[in-house]
Amino acid sequence: MNRRIFLKSGLASAAAIGVASAPLAWSARSGRVRDHLFIAQPARLNLLGQDYPATDVWAFNNMIPGPVLRAQQGDTVRIKFRNRLSMMSTIHWHGIRLPNAMDGVPGITQPPVKPGEDFVYEFPLPDAGTFWYHPHVATYEQIGRGLFGTIVVEEKNPPDVDDDITWAISDVMLTRDATISPNFKSLHDAAHAGRLGNIVLVNGERGPNVLDVRAGQRIRLRILNAASARIFRLRFHGHQPLVVAHDGHPCTPYRLTDSFHFSPGNRIDLILDCTGAPNSSFEVEDEFFPAMRNKIALIKYSSRSPQAARKPFEGLEPNALYEPVLAGAETVKMVLEGGALSNKATREAIWLMNGKGNSHGSHMDTHGHHPDPLFVFDQGCTVRCLIDNRTAWFHPMHFHGVVFRERLPNGEWGPFKDSTLVWPFKTQEIAFVAESAGDWMIHCHVAEHQHSGLMGTFRVASLCKTPVVPKA
Ligand code: C2O
Ligand code: CU
Ligand code: CU
Repeated sequence: MNRRIFLKSGLASAAAIGVASAPLAWSARSGRVRDHLFIAQPARLNLLGQDYPATDVWAFNNMIPGPVLRAQQGDTVRIKFRNRLSMMSTIHWHGIRLPNAMDGVPGITQPPVKPGEDFVYEFPLPDAGTFWYHPHVATYEQIGRGLFGTIVVEEKNPPDVDDDITWAISDVMLTRDATISPNFKSLHDAAHAGRLGNIVLVNGERGPNVLDVRAGQRIRLRILNAASARIFRLRFHGHQPLVVAHDGHPCTPYRLTDSFHFSPGNRIDLILDCTGAPNSSFEVEDEFFPAMRNKIALIKYSSRSPQAARKPFEGLEPNALYEPVLAGAETVKMVLEGGALSNKATREAIWLMNGKGNSHGSHMDTHGHHPDPLFVFDQGCTVRCLIDNRTAWFHPMHFHGVVFRERLPNGEWGPFKDSTLVWPFKTQEIAFVAESAGDWMIHCHVAEHQHSGLMGTFRVASLCKTPVVPKA
């Protein structure tokens, strides 16, 4: 790699101020290589419990969520993806910093995988944390029918906890006979808040999930929002868990003293100290729609006497990320328009990003991105992006290929994330280092918005003549 050119760039400045001296994420294959086979195919699963009929779903390896992809930081994973669906697909590894060619975006980073075909993904895991995977073709339908799973990348020195639990929260739209409603291309859903299911699932089963604990225990909770559209507003009754990571990346720990918005694509890692009394129980609720609350979990204490509490939790070891260098940063603006209640929306272009609708001129096509990049950045530069939401709807905006800081309401820069919730008629600022060459997606993670206009790309142009992405 041409070191000299890098030294002029933000990557080197970031290292100079001592925040990130990361080896490039893709620089070498390291650690063990772990092989997996993921088969996407129709399956029949019981989502509602034994008193109800089973449901025809699409699933990875006959499970919802799909198998947990568990590895250690520094390992390389190799996943053979076998498409046994009736439509094309890919797998995107949401939040993992990987080479562009492994990002799983049809028509951009790879050809879509046809029914009956295989595709092998292989990449190292530079960061510890909670990530996830899902198809990137017709995501409204493929996620909506059950194709998603969690990725747990363990730290080399994992924290001392009694249990490490994952809640993958999603929802599903079921008819009276427990069949998934096939109306995935509803124009109404696409122009409003997306397709909201009528049953909330936790780890593929109707909530609440029962978490059995003993007083005094310390539990690590990894929560994922894998719903195609639903934003949750989670409240922990009786507890104030410590937030230790957002979207996989450790943050300065802070206590949850209130409910919080948790949008599609987001993960949060919590340290839950079980401060309740023996035999007590507490709900975790979704109160996004106060009149229609969903029970997510029940924290249920056994009768056993409390075990000795641990010392206060000091936080996870941070991942080596590139710190944005704001002086001299490039500033770009992204304007979101359209949707119901807007005079910009048409049948052909329900949503617009910087004036562009989607490339195929219809809503809900399978790829649905704009043909040209919205932005081109030099590799290594810091970008400030102002996301100006001129619509009446929430948009959880997700960027592939970068990890950003979001500007908090108090003006400070918040923790690293890969998806930011932009409120109706608000502007959200983010800042990131364009770290890895290639064309990367930007899209709303409400899948019905994504596929009806709110999806585009940005290009990170390599500054080096020799490829910055050497093949391992
Ligand atoms: Cu989880 Cu392109 O997204
Ligand atoms: Cu992603
Ligand atoms: Cu949206």
